Amino acid sequence: MIILCSLLVLLLQFKGRVTAVPILPTKVTVEITNKLNNESLTLHCKDKYNDKGVVTLNVNKTYRFRFYPNYFFPLTLYFCHFVWIEAEYYFNIYVQKRDGYCFHNRCPWEVLENGPCKIKSESRECFIWKTSYVEKNNTFSS
Ligand SMILES: *[C@@H]1O[C@H](CO)[C@@H](O)[C@H](O)[C@H]1NC(C)=O
Ligand SMILES: *[C@@H]1O[C@H](CO)[C@@H](O)[C@H](O)[C@H]1NC(C)=O
Ligand SMILES: *[C@@H]1O[C@H](CO)[C@@H](O)[C@H](O)[C@H]1NC(C)=O
Repeated sequence: MIILCSLLVLLLQFKGRVTAVPILPTKVTVEITNKLNNESLTLHCKDKYNDKGVVTLNVNKTYRFRFYPNYFFPLTLYFCHFVWIEAEYYFNIYVQKRDGYCFHNRCPWEVLENGPCKIKSESRECFIWKTSYVEKNNTFSS
């Protein structure tokens, strides 16, 4: 009986873990779409270790990048520098504690004049630009 119980507890723990984190390390794709009114959007995303480079997007165009979130500790943080003619902002586009594996490992965003919106399966969550939101500001060197 005791053995059965501990087996059950083990099983439940295992199941709980699987729903939170995939069994094997899995890549997440961040997708950023330029939804500005009529401006090209230049963006530069990086984390502490990887620089995804500078890209410029025309209106309605989407840029994607993929990475493995940290498997053991939810500490992965990607931030982007967004620039268009009138404005320049930083935003934490992927915060592992906030975003996890998003929806089927896809994290789509739309960038608007007022701020970025996270597209969820049945809703959207919009953020207002706020430069101080960037935690790893100082790792931008140029
Ligand atoms: C969009 O921008 C282009 C280039 O700046 C300009 O020629 C065009 O008239 C603009 N269109 C609208 C609808 O504002
Ligand atoms: C971008 O997409 C929106 C919505 O589909 C559309 O109304 C708009 O005309 C598109 N703009 C450009 C420049 O393609
Ligand atoms: C982030 O960098 C910008 C531009 O260099 C600077 O103006 C801003 O004060 C910095 N924010 C923080 C929180 O360090």
